Amino acid sequence: MSYHVPMTPPDLPIEGRDMTGDISLQIAQLEAEAKAALETAPELSVLEERERTAFRSKKSRFAEMYQRLGSMEPEARREAGRALNELRARLEALAEARRAELSSFARAERLAADRLDLTEVLPGRLAGHLHLVTQVREALEDVFVGMGYEIAEGPEVETGWRNFEALNIPEDHPARSPLDTFYVDFGEPWSVLLRPHTSPVQIRLLERGTLPIYAVAPGRTYRKDTPDSTHLPVFHQIEGLVVDRGVTFADLKGTIETFVRAIFGEGTRTRLRPAYFPFTEPSAEFEMSCVICGGEGCRTCAGVGWIELGGCGMVHPAVFEATGVDPETWTGFAFGFGIDRIAIMRHGIADLRVMIENDVRFLNQF
Ligand code: DAH
Repeated sequence: MSYHVPMTPPDLPIEGRDMTGDISLQIAQLEAEAKAALETAPELSVLEERERTAFRSKKSRFAEMYQRLGSMEPEARREAGRALNELRARLEALAEARRAELSSFARAERLAADRLDLTEVLPGRLAGHLHLVTQVREALEDVFVGMGYEIAEGPEVETGWRNFEALNIPEDHPARSPLDTFYVDFGEPWSVLLRPHTSPVQIRLLERGTLPIYAVAPGRTYRKDTPDSTHLPVFHQIEGLVVDRGVTFADLKGTIETFVRAIFGEGTRTRLRPAYFPFTEPSAEFEMSCVICGGEGCRTCAGVGWIELGGCGMVHPAVFEATGVDPETWTGFAFGFGIDRIAIMRHGIADLRVMIENDVRFLNQF
């Protein structure tokens, strides 16, 4: 902002003026103008500029008046000199006062900018919650803990021996191909992998050597699958293993029916269909009546009324032998299924991929 400071009042032409006569008038005039200019300086840099113009610079009117003292009579010179010195002192005081004022404004402004507005209404803090898959895993854990099972855990990076050999999976089984399973690059003989199922936890439980066993082992699993509506390369399974004396296929069937009803509701029916798994004999796939149509047949169940959940069977003697458990004394059953699939079934979700998209509009619903 520029401020025009009139230094020469029109009624007081400097040219040809008698300095002795009107010096006190000129001083009053200069003081009035300088005072107005200094007191209204909007900021420190402008104040300094106006101080120079009013009295500090050699070209100021003040300096000009000072110079004229030399041409005055001694008596008048003393008088005018004193008046000018006093004027300078007053102008300096004025400038000082304005400087102090402007600094305190600047400080107040800084403080105001920093101040917290305690009246502002902020949105409440958003609390997150467990992911749907974790919720379903915990619901499953609760059901099995309620039946007296322990929750077991195994590592996601597993040995080929526990994942395949000990589970009686033959050398030429397709799951052993690096096209299906992620191997950890430790070089030959390619025996460390990201587990493609939770079944190796069965081996860890049997290796412990403490029997009987009633355990479920939930956890993350990996397969070289392209994501689509029913597959994710990283997914979750839960493994079940019961080893005791005199365990029967009927116990297996009852156990499956119990947890399916607990998760999907009392009206849900289950059935077993013959299947083949190397680590169980006999083996079965277990299915439940379709949650959408109740068994009538619809798009979700491809018209058959049943939805496949997982695999199960009686623990193969070869698995017992691999882990040093006497198959003459002990019998057992095992089962395994996908937790993510249970979650989409239970909540009628059309596409598995939403589980990993991290869209809060989806996640917030559960
Ligand atoms: N591990 C199998 C899979 O990932 C599922 C399975 C089948 C687990 C039968 C079992 C079982 O414990 O007895 O496809």
